[in-house]
Amino acid sequence: MILTDTHTHLYSEAFDEDRDEVIKKAIELGVERFFIPAIDSTYTKAMFELEKAYPENIFLMIGLHPTHVKENYKDELQHVEKLLNDRRFYALGEIGIDLYWDKTFFKEQQEAFRFQIRLAKKHKLPIVIHCRESFDEIFEILEIEKGEGLFGIFHCFTGSLEQARKAISYNLKLGIGGVATFKNGKIDTFLNEIELEHIVLETDSPYLSPVPYRGKRNESAYLVKVLEKLSEIYGLEEKEIADITTKNSKDLFGI
Ligand code: NI
Repeated sequence: MILTDTHTHLYSEAFDEDRDEVIKKAIELGVERFFIPAIDSTYTKAMFELEKAYPENIFLMIGLHPTHVKENYKDELQHVEKLLNDRRFYALGEIGIDLYWDKTFFKEQQEAFRFQIRLAKKHKLPIVIHCRESFDEIFEILEIEKGEGLFGIFHCFTGSLEQARKAISYNLKLGIGGVATFKNGKIDTFLNEIELEHIVLETDSPYLSPVPYRGKRNESAYLVKVLEKLSEIYGLEEKEIADITTKNSKDLFGI
């Protein structure tokens, strides 16, 4: 059984003390493929080091995270564009709109999101979307950019069944993680109405730990808790869910 964590910030400072153990522990549990979303240029070096240490397991994305769209966003976007021309990445991510933390740069967030969607299309790459209190704003842009060349993951999906169907209509898979295990997470109540071909697994570690680790540092190894929950929701063997969601990740990322 091979599990794929499609969203893990393994380069985060939260893992500086024990990164190798964290990775080893995950691999021992079958979590062998780690897709690494970018945040901004300050993490690029750490991401490259991670890839160098685990070339068989680590797959990098590049992008500017919406909460890091600030005064210097144009320089950051240039950094993304340049790196895309230099070497291979597996997605543009994470990109999107976040109106929870700060609305100051809303216009710039919209601009950065569209710019990066177009880069993804140009390089024939998937996008990995971060959405927080911004479903309508994200859908508004996807409505303009939809069609051939637009595909990817709606990361950390927390919306309604209707919003799930809408995301899928834009050729996006739903990134399902710890929230599916939360008592008040809601998505567990309708997820079985969404076919598994539209689902990929993720932790978003070090954030959003699944039950029973909620509130603690999250790790890719805890993906097995998400798997357990999905097995319960869909009434299928864990292995079957692992196989399908890993296949989905391969179809999407091309590896
Ligand atoms: Ni993330």
